[in-house]
Amino acid sequence: MSGHWTGRIRHRSGTILLMKKPDLIVLGIETSCDETGVALYSTARGLLAQGLHSQVAMHERFGGVVPELASRDHIRRVLPLTRQALADAQLVLGDIDAIAFTQGPGLAGALLVGAAVATGLAAALGRPLIGIHHLEGHLLSPLLSAQPPAFPFVALLVSGGHTQLMRVDGVGRYELLGDTLDDAAGEAFDKSAKLLGLGYPGGPAIAALASRGRPGACTLPRPLLHSGDLDFSFSGLKTAVLTAVKKGLPDEQARADLACELQAAIVDVLVAKSVAAVKATGLTRLVIAGGVSANTRLREALARAASGGRLAVFFPEPALCTDNGAMIAFAGALRLGALRLDALPADGSAPVDGFTVRPRWPLHELAPVEG
Ligand code: KG4
Ligand code: ZN
Repeated sequence: MSGHWTGRIRHRSGTILLMKKPDLIVLGIETSCDETGVALYSTARGLLAQGLHSQVAMHERFGGVVPELASRDHIRRVLPLTRQALADAQLVLGDIDAIAFTQGPGLAGALLVGAAVATGLAAALGRPLIGIHHLEGHLLSPLLSAQPPAFPFVALLVSGGHTQLMRVDGVGRYELLGDTLDDAAGEAFDKSAKLLGLGYPGGPAIAALASRGRPGACTLPRPLLHSGDLDFSFSGLKTAVLTAVKKGLPDEQARADLACELQAAIVDVLVAKSVAAVKATGLTRLVIAGGVSANTRLREALARAASGGRLAVFFPEPALCTDNGAMIAFAGALRLGALRLDALPADGSAPVDGFTVRPRWPLHELAPVEG
């Protein structure tokens, strides 16, 4: 063994490592989509260093992520970013105590790059390997902020691929309250942006155009606003945008008005359902995470909805809203205590279970972490 572990204890979820080192350094690697993110997280000192390379400029001219290009770029970036993060933190490879990587969900080829690098490093260093669920990374990222929320809380996960409301009672203790029946909120931004001839990713592009729009100048539906449940549906909005585009938008003002209304429609539904989820659970804390949580209008509307009431709203730091390595390193640190010692080979090398990735991986399948 690497010398950091003092023994093992029995636990209902398996065997747990006991650590004698008060400060464990976790390397986090994120390569699920179009951002290569790496970070070093210290269990005693917090985030030590992080590096990020966005592939947006590379994919932009294709109007979306090209999976094969994404994988190849991750290969180019991940090791230089890791070296830079280590240099920034004034650490060397041998200082790393565990390696966390995004195991899924995401693009299979892109995930494989992070999995291969993490697995190789873990084997070479003889350190534990922790496969992290990408959405758990997003979900827990507000805990990295200066004023982190306490458990339990309601979480609104709004990314390019997911729109979910979750009750969160602890690490790995997630109950799905509501989900999208079709497109995710980020997808509605991205697809509508494409229809409006805007760049990718669509969220920031729509938000920029919307800032010049006149609120209420045109009308789009608020899908499932009064459905009485906590589910979402955003594909109709994209169709409504398509219809408006086909009818013809006479000038730049009309385009901006449509973008403004689209953003308002998405924000209205997200806010109403989040508030309803908080009421239904009787909880008082709401956490917003995922790429769409960077949206200024959404943040403002949620802050307004919370003002004067018992509800407290928490956001990740703006830089941690979209994909990054910090949330993966952090989730890895939280899960480190639940690593199964019996999964490690007897010769002390890391648990190398092949280049396992889970491009489709339901969040509720995660094991809970006690404590
Ligand atoms: O979490 P994320 O980086 O990747 C996924 O896991 O999907 O989220 C990306 C999504 C994209 O759909 C993007 O358009 C959206 O987040 N997004 C935004 C904003 N910034 C990113 N949507 C609305 N407003 C923004 N400012
Ligand atoms: Zn993401």
